Amino acid sequence: MRSEEQKIVYLQDYKPSDYLIPKTEMWVDFSPERTQITTDLHIERRAGVEAGTPLELDGEQVELVSIAIGDDVLGAGQYELSENGLKLLDPPQSFVLSTVVEVAPEKNKSLEGLYRSSGNWCTQCEAEGFRRITYFIDRPDVMSVFTVKMVADKDLAPVLLSNGNPMDKGEMSNNRHFALWHDPHPKPCYLFAMVAGKLDKISEKFTTKSGKNVDLNIYAEPGKAELCRYAMDALVRSMKWDEERFGCEYDLDVFNIVAVSDFNAGAMENKGLNIFNDKYVLADPATATDQDYALIERIIAHEYFHNYTGNRVTCRDWFQLCLKEGLTVFRDQEFSSDERFRDVERIDDVKGLRQSQFVEDSGPLAHPPRPSQYEQIDNFYTSTVYEKGAEVVRMLMTLLGKQTFHEGVDLYLDRHDGEAATIEQFIKCFEDVSGRDLSQFQKWYTQAGRPRVSYSTSYAAEQKLFTLVLKQEVPPTPGDDEKSPLVLPIRFGLVSNNGEDLTWEHAEGAEVQDDLIVTNEDEVTVTFHGVSSAPVVSLFRGFSAPVTLDTKASLEEDLHRARLDSDPFNRWESLQSAIMNIVAPAMDVDGPELDIELLEPVAVALSQTLDSQNLSPAFKALCLKLPTYQDYTQRLGQNIDPDRIKTVRQKVSEVVADKLRGQLVTLYSTLHLPDDYQPNAEQSGMRDLRNQALSLLATLKEGQLFELVERHYREARNMTDRQAALAIMCANAPDRAVELLDDFKRNYTEAMTVYDKWLGLNASIDDAQTIDRIKRLMDDDRFSLETPNRVYALFGAFTQGNPTQFARADGAGFELIADVILQIDQFNPQVAGRFAVAFRIWKNYESKRREAARAALERIKQSEKISPNLSEMVNKTLG
Ligand code: ARG
Ligand code: ZN
Repeated sequence: MRSEEQKIVYLQDYKPSDYLIPKTEMWVDFSPERTQITTDLHIERRAGVEAGTPLELDGEQVELVSIAIGDDVLGAGQYELSENGLKLLDPPQSFVLSTVVEVAPEKNKSLEGLYRSSGNWCTQCEAEGFRRITYFIDRPDVMSVFTVKMVADKDLAPVLLSNGNPMDKGEMSNNRHFALWHDPHPKPCYLFAMVAGKLDKISEKFTTKSGKNVDLNIYAEPGKAELCRYAMDALVRSMKWDEERFGCEYDLDVFNIVAVSDFNAGAMENKGLNIFNDKYVLADPATATDQDYALIERIIAHEYFHNYTGNRVTCRDWFQLCLKEGLTVFRDQEFSSDERFRDVERIDDVKGLRQSQFVEDSGPLAHPPRPSQYEQIDNFYTSTVYEKGAEVVRMLMTLLGKQTFHEGVDLYLDRHDGEAATIEQFIKCFEDVSGRDLSQFQKWYTQAGRPRVSYSTSYAAEQKLFTLVLKQEVPPTPGDDEKSPLVLPIRFGLVSNNGEDLTWEHAEGAEVQDDLIVTNEDEVTVTFHGVSSAPVVSLFRGFSAPVTLDTKASLEEDLHRARLDSDPFNRWESLQSAIMNIVAPAMDVDGPELDIELLEPVAVALSQTLDSQNLSPAFKALCLKLPTYQDYTQRLGQNIDPDRIKTVRQKVSEVVADKLRGQLVTLYSTLHLPDDYQPNAEQSGMRDLRNQALSLLATLKEGQLFELVERHYREARNMTDRQAALAIMCANAPDRAVELLDDFKRNYTEAMTVYDKWLGLNASIDDAQTIDRIKRLMDDDRFSLETPNRVYALFGAFTQGNPTQFARADGAGFELIADVILQIDQFNPQVAGRFAVAFRIWKNYESKRREAARAALERIKQSEKISPNLSEMVNKTLG
């Protein structure tokens, strides 16, 4: 695992595998110390490959007990064994290779391959975990039909699950039993899974559109099955939605989900046996927030949708990861939009994109959705691959129209069913259904960074002529200076005085159809004839392309859109941009003082938004969330001083809160929710608005308001309100927060999901004790670095949610995280690598912090024996 030389893998080196494995039979014997795996691989040399070509099987941390071809046991000289695998020097054309290996799941803290979580055995194979279970050609284009016989002690593992359909089960001697699973769909080994253990379950039946019955089960640790009801509901809705919107019908007799408490990622789409991090399954109103529910719904849908986009059509190689992830994220976004409020979902998704992907894309780790080289593929499960990947698919839909887009997806799923495909093949399907040349469009997949778009307008009243000049420029990213302009689908409107969209007779200079401009030029002038009055242009409605729009817009224009734009996204966007335009200059290290007077009209616009009869509470809540810390760091770009940003943001909140005080108080006290808690979009939006009102008010830091927050905590009848109250206190009154958090710990944190909230809230407090507090939390008896959820809760909240303390000028925050990363790297390189991204904006800090961050990164780099995962991340981050 730990090698000196990093091996870089290049897309251009792709070659199909010399050998194929159409059939795989496994016999897995679980016992507490060791698990023994007997595998029969039915191997064939691919047509055209020369005899005598050696066969290389991947295998890591498995102990070979025996190896045979047919009945012939192989001896030394017939194969070579190394740390990374096994090589057969002169294999026959077609044969059965039988291996027996042993692995030690108890000791496996990397949570890759076969490991134990709370006493239960489970697996995680994507991307390259199967090689830790047995020898195999571990690459996504080698697909096999798997049959698995699992054997275990009846008491230790009454439940035995694998992919596909259950074929047989029975008793054996010595209190042992077995289960036989067969998955008729050929699949790459990254989709293989097994679970063995003591689990409770809930069950449901689903009838597919063609009348097939499917048994649905969700398994959780004993006592937790009832907490899976919402996940089950989300699953049933996902299955229905995928039939209706994408025509995808489930293709096995059973669909199982297992929730485990130790898991590196969110969840995994193994065929017929999804395995989840239990924080994305378990929920009830007392332990989960509205946001948790929404995420559970999303992720359940996401993994289920992979059954087609990922499993039925998989990826040829790992460079194509976004082929399944981008498309599946797009699908889960659409699902949430159809199930909830589309406009609100869109705004939330874009906020998420900017918060993570834009940051990634602007820094040393920038890469295209389809990278062309990597060292460790596990480092590429990034927001660029996932979220930007989804944006690119969304642009295809915008460009081609919903109907043609769906024809393209149908063609893709049909043409490549059962295959391992590429981005080129995906794009080709859309070219074939639309007749449109998408070669330029495809650059979205292969080019890192995002266009910066600027514009100017003019109106000639006499000729009724409106002119729009658009410019795009793609700034260089590390190692890539030459950028091409990209195809931009720009949804737009010409907003009149009273908010109506103005019409035009004809337009020239670019492709303009209805509300869409399409351009792939560096610069383009579009003229609209027959525009009856001077409009305010509204561009990139619904965020129709993932660009940075340079808004040199005047405050009046922004406010015009904020009040009147018929596109909710741009309404929200313009309000945010108005505030940022006023505030950002004051955050600059040599910037001017904040001019409070300028905020007056913004407050008026916000106030009107709150008063509106047409806007939903959920939308209003979004508007009350003033631009985030990350929004400003993005805007500023360099020389970032977190303390300064914090001070200015606090001032802005105070000013706005003071101006809206009466309205916010009324809103808080009169917005009544039904007694019966439902995590639906409607109620969530109302709770969000109420909590947002309180949150803004509390920034005034008045004793009376803190009383109100404390009462909100004590009277809360669900976790959404309770956590909101705590978060507000943490942000505004650390001393009082510490007291409330003690109460919270004593009374509510029995469930680990709630304990994790407690950790995160503690880590978010920004005061002189922050670092010591976090060190104390690490000693808490329920905290462990070995469980990723604990790590994400505590240190995720610290690095993301407490930027002033993480980026302390004395470097103590950076040093703390460097220590933690180095510790975790000893047993879980994937998580260590992931945490290194906390440093990705280090070059953007002002000099003192920059040097402190560099020192911490250098210390990691110089440490002995760091994993390849961490090494790749740190080297790239340092640049
Ligand atoms: N395919 C999984 C999903 O998106 C995530 C797997 C993560 N694996 C990893 N090595 N990071 O649902
Ligand atoms: Zn996925």
